[in-house]
Amino acid sequence: MLAQLLWVIFPYACIATFIIGHIFRFRYDQFSWTAKSSEFIEKKQLMWGSILFHLGIIPVILGHVAGLGIPASWLRAIGVSDHMYHIGAVYIGSIFGIVTLIGMILLTARRITNESVRKLSSLSDILVNILLLFIVFIGCYSTIVTNFTMPHFDYRQTISEWFRGLLILRPQVAYMADVPLQFKLHVITGFLIFALWPFTRLVHVWSVPVNYVGRSHILYRKHK
Ligand code: HEM
Repeated sequence: MLAQLLWVIFPYACIATFIIGHIFRFRYDQFSWTAKSSEFIEKKQLMWGSILFHLGIIPVILGHVAGLGIPASWLRAIGVSDHMYHIGAVYIGSIFGIVTLIGMILLTARRITNESVRKLSSLSDILVNILLLFIVFIGCYSTIVTNFTMPHFDYRQTISEWFRGLLILRPQVAYMADVPLQFKLHVITGFLIFALWPFTRLVHVWSVPVNYVGRSHILYRKHK
């Protein structure tokens, strides 16, 4: 029963909240769709924290897509052996994981220790920071420590199989039974952040001004 709750009901509830929450916020609360800048209060720590976090998280996301989404047999078929995958996932994953973690530590420390930033922060801002810090920390711990202390554990034969089952609406909770606790905590909190996403500053992710790079210049003319 607990297994069904954790590995079927909870993740689907998070995905449903993610989708419905975004639709709701977009329709009824668009004015608050922002990451509410605090750059005018403190710039340097924000810059380093933000650069490191974003530089790390993008490859980490690509790693998740490959590790969770692509079956090991498909990668073997195109010549990526398990050993090659493992070296890439552990070493490259650890480097970008640590970069993300340092960024997250700087951002969280700034939000909590800088009095003006703290006063400007809502409870949800602080919660998102702490939760992300925890997810990234426990993810790095799993990659760096657990992969070495429990080398027989293979998340591609367990977590990834369960995860793909969820996506095709055929979740099999048995895959999660012997997963180490640190990985379980990572996965549960990883889903939790998706449920909170539409109600927090994270919505800014969907408003990155990508067209800014290619848009035509704005011409300013002198007023006569
Ligand atoms: C939603 C479900 C998620 C699942 C099933 C999941 C699964 C995993 C797995 C299996 C690993 C170990 C990878 C390895 O050892 O090679 C890992 C690592 C990691 N995860 Fe996640 N994760 C999830 C969500 C997240 C989220 C939301 C974040 C960040 C906000 C995140 C950040 C990380 C980081 C930083 C690492 C360590 C670096 C790396 O190996 O890429 N994960 N995750």
